[in-house]
Amino acid sequence: MSSTLLVTGAAGQLGQRVIHHLLETYKVAPGRIIAATRSPEKLAELAAKGVITRKADFDDAATLPAAFAGIDHLLIISTDALAVPGLRLKQQTTAVDAAKKAGVKHILYTSMPAPDDSLVSFAPDHLGTENAIKASGIGYTILRDAWYFDNFLMGLPHSLATGKWYTATGGGRTSNISRDDCALAIAAALASDATESATYTLTGSTSLTIEDVASVVSKVTDRPLEVVQVNDEQFAAGLTGAGLPKFVVDMLVSADANARAGKFDILTNDFNKLTGKEPQTVRAFFEAHKAALLV
Ligand SMILES: NC(=O)c1ccc[n+]([C@@H]2O[C@H](COP(=O)([O-])OP(=O)(O)OC[C@H]3O[C@@H](n4cnc5c(N)ncnc54)[C@H](OP(=O)(O)O)[C@@H]3O)[C@@H](O)[C@H]2O)c1
Repeated sequence: MSSTLLVTGAAGQLGQRVIHHLLETYKVAPGRIIAATRSPEKLAELAAKGVITRKADFDDAATLPAAFAGIDHLLIISTDALAVPGLRLKQQTTAVDAAKKAGVKHILYTSMPAPDDSLVSFAPDHLGTENAIKASGIGYTILRDAWYFDNFLMGLPHSLATGKWYTATGGGRTSNISRDDCALAIAAALASDATESATYTLTGSTSLTIEDVASVVSKVTDRPLEVVQVNDEQFAAGLTGAGLPKFVVDMLVSADANARAGKFDILTNDFNKLTGKEPQTVRAFFEAHKAALLV
């Protein structure tokens, strides 16, 4: 009998793209796919295609036995619960415990590059979850996703409007990748039915400074964009002044510090290994998302 593949966080942006690639790129039969989310009512389109939908809320452990029943390969998509310290780790270890009790055969998890050597504020959530998965005794595939290109789309319209991109990266490089490429590689790992334990770091093919990224954005949009290097305090003050909550400010400042320390400068060919393809380039990404830059 064919194995069953469950994706948690199926209503999120990454979850939707993973399921898209399972169905459309890897031609997995819809009846083998279980899309689990806090809000199954958001998945009517997938249900209409024959994908099974279930409720799974890591804040409500009572939803998980039924959600994970009969599952061979479970993809745990890391949650976005960053506002309350410790909550994300608690949610994700609750999911690992439930997977163990339900007899899941293999866990896949979306982590971050080198969580054991990171300045990023949320790295302990990822490291703690990776360790909980390893301690469970269940076979695992850890997929450590580099910083998405997509993250830049949040601040760039403002930067382009003012002509200035403030950063505290200090010339440090980051091996960005698009969210959709992460989804493609994760779907490849899930569809492969692999049972041996492995850790992959999903990166683009080049490590880029913010100056490199700005130069591409400037060419694609035909607008000037000056990179202004600031220190952590100045960066935090600017983000706070723009109205961002403290946990987001802390996250962004710590991410820039991580880049400045060279800890995001990690290039692998794990994306190619999993997909047999080249990752999208920075130029191709911004060409495809030009409209989102000029809003
Ligand atoms: N590498 C990067 O640059 C980067 C950037 C952004 C985010 N991330 C991480 O990757 C994850 C997916 O990214 P995304 O772009 O898809 O973000 P997103 O659209 O904001 O998705 C948030 C995800 O968290 C899930 N979630 C929240 N609370 C949950 C709970 N109580 N129980 C179970 N699931 C819960 C949501 O699932 P439902 O809504 O379906 O329940 C959804 O899949 C994020 O949650 C974050 O951990 C990585």
